[in-house]
Amino acid sequence: MSDYLQTGPLRNIVKTLKIPVPVILDRAEIDVPIKEDEFWGRKIKIDGTPESASLKASFKKKLDERGVDFVEGEGIVEGLVYIALAPSKIADLKPLYTFINANLKSVKPNGRVIIVAKNWQEGDHPEQKAALRSLIGFTKALAKECGGFGTTVQLVYAEAPLFSSHTGFLEKVLPVVHFFLSKRSSFITGQVIEVKDSGVDENVHYYQSLQGKIAIVTGGARGIGGDTVKCLAREGAKVVIVDVPAMEKDGKQLAEQVGGDFLAKDITTPTAPKEIRDYIIANYGNLDILVNNAGVIRDKMIVNMKPEQWDLVLNVNLEAAIRLTEAFLEIGMNQNGRIIGLSSINGIAGAAGQTNYSASKAGLIGYIQAIAEREWMRGITANAIAPGFIETQMTENLPFFIKEGGRRLSALKQGGLPIDIAETITFLSSPMASGISGQVLRVCGGNFVGA
Ligand SMILES: NC(=O)c1ccc[n+]([C@@H]2O[C@H](COP(=O)([O-])OP(=O)(O)OC[C@H]3O[C@@H](n4cnc5c(N)ncnc54)[C@H](O)[C@@H]3O)[C@@H](O)[C@H]2O)c1
Repeated sequence: MSDYLQTGPLRNIVKTLKIPVPVILDRAEIDVPIKEDEFWGRKIKIDGTPESASLKASFKKKLDERGVDFVEGEGIVEGLVYIALAPSKIADLKPLYTFINANLKSVKPNGRVIIVAKNWQEGDHPEQKAALRSLIGFTKALAKECGGFGTTVQLVYAEAPLFSSHTGFLEKVLPVVHFFLSKRSSFITGQVIEVKDSGVDENVHYYQSLQGKIAIVTGGARGIGGDTVKCLAREGAKVVIVDVPAMEKDGKQLAEQVGGDFLAKDITTPTAPKEIRDYIIANYGNLDILVNNAGVIRDKMIVNMKPEQWDLVLNVNLEAAIRLTEAFLEIGMNQNGRIIGLSSINGIAGAAGQTNYSASKAGLIGYIQAIAEREWMRGITANAIAPGFIETQMTENLPFFIKEGGRRLSALKQGGLPIDIAETITFLSSPMASGISGQVLRVCGGNFVGA
C-alpha cells in the first residue's frame, strides 16, 4: 500500500538516473490537532484588486495575530494569497497575472497559492461573470504548472454578501483559506470551493472543535475510514465505527485506541439503519456527524458483470448510505449536523470496468446535493468527497498499469494517502466549513480524470 517512487531504494535509483521523481508531500502528522496558530512563522505574500483593500487588511490582521509573517517585496515565501473581489473588466485580471508572475518563483516547494473571489455566477454583468469565471481556468492551469513542486492552487468562491461584511468574511472564508494553506490539504489542488453565506450559523473555532460531537464512520475499521476515525477523535469527537462483523477485531482495537466505540453491522441488511440509529440514540442521545465511507469494488466490463456484482456495489456504496442517512434525518440530527459521502473521481468521469462503481459514486453525489439543498435551512451541511487514487487495500491489487495511471496522470504525479481524505472529512465536519454545503470536493492530487 505504498508508492515505490515515494520511499525505498527504487526512488534513489530513479533519481540517480536523473528521471524526475514525485515530490514528497509535506503532511501534518495524524496526531497533531488543528490549531488557530498552526502557521506561526510561516511566510505569506498577499495582494488583491483595489476594491478588496479593506478586506485584505482585516484578513492580514487576523492571520498576523496568528503569527503569519507577511512578506513585502523580495523574499522566499510558503504561500501566495490573492483577493479578487470584483474584477469588472477582463483587463482587471492583469494584476493577478503580475502578482503570480512576479512571485511564483519565490514560493518554496510544497507551497500554497489561494485565490479568493466573488462567485462568478453572482457577477453584476456579463463581462464581470467572464472575468470571475476565467479564474477557474487560471487555477486549474496553474495547479498543473506547480504540481511538480508539490505546490497546490485553489480558488475559493465566496457568496457576494460575505464580501460586504468583515465578520462574515472572517468567519466563513478565512477558516476555508486556513485549511487550504495548511499541511492538511497537501493532496488537494486545482479545486474550486464555494462558500455560502446564509443558512448555517456556527461559532467558528479551531482547536478541539469536535468536543462533545458524536460521529459515525461506516467502514471505519481500516483504510480511509480508519484514518478518519483517528482524525475526528483527535479533534474531540466520540466516534462510533460501523463495519462488517469480519472487521470486528480491527474495529474494536481502533475504537479502543481512540476512545471510541465499535458496532459490528453490515450496512446493507434491511434492519441496519434502524438498529444503528437505535444504538446511537440509546447510548449517545443523537448524532452530529455521519461519514458514509463504506464502499466496495467489483470491477468487470458490463458484458461480463454478474448481477450480484452489480447489486453488491450499488447496495453498499449507494442504497445503504441513503437508507442510513435518511434514518437519521428522519429524526433530525443535532444542530449543525454534518453528512459526508465518499464518492470518487470515477463517479465524475466514469471508468471502464466500473459501470457499477461509477454509477454508485455518481448517484451518491446526486443524493448528497439533493439533501444539502433540503437540509441547509435546518443547519445541516452535506458534502461529497471525490478521492483520486489513494494507496489503500482497495487499490492495492489493481493491475500495475492502472495503478500507475491513477498515480502519475495527475498534477502532483502521485497517489494520495488515507490521511489526505481523512483530514478533508474532518475539515468538512468542523465549524471551519460552516459555509460549505452541496459541494463535491476532489481530493485527487489534481488527477486529470474527469477534471
Ligand atoms: N482507495 C481509493 O483509491 C478510493 C478512491 C475513490 C474513492 N474511494 C472510496 O473511499 C471509501 C473508502 O475506501 P478504502 O480505500 O478505504 O476502502 P477499504 O476497502 O480499505 O475499506 C472499506 C471499508 O468498508 C467496509 N465495508 C465494506 N462493505 C461494508 C458493509 N456492507 N457494511 C459495513 N462496512 C462495510 C470494509 O469492511 C472496510 O473496512 C470507499 O467508499 C471507496 O469507494 C476510495
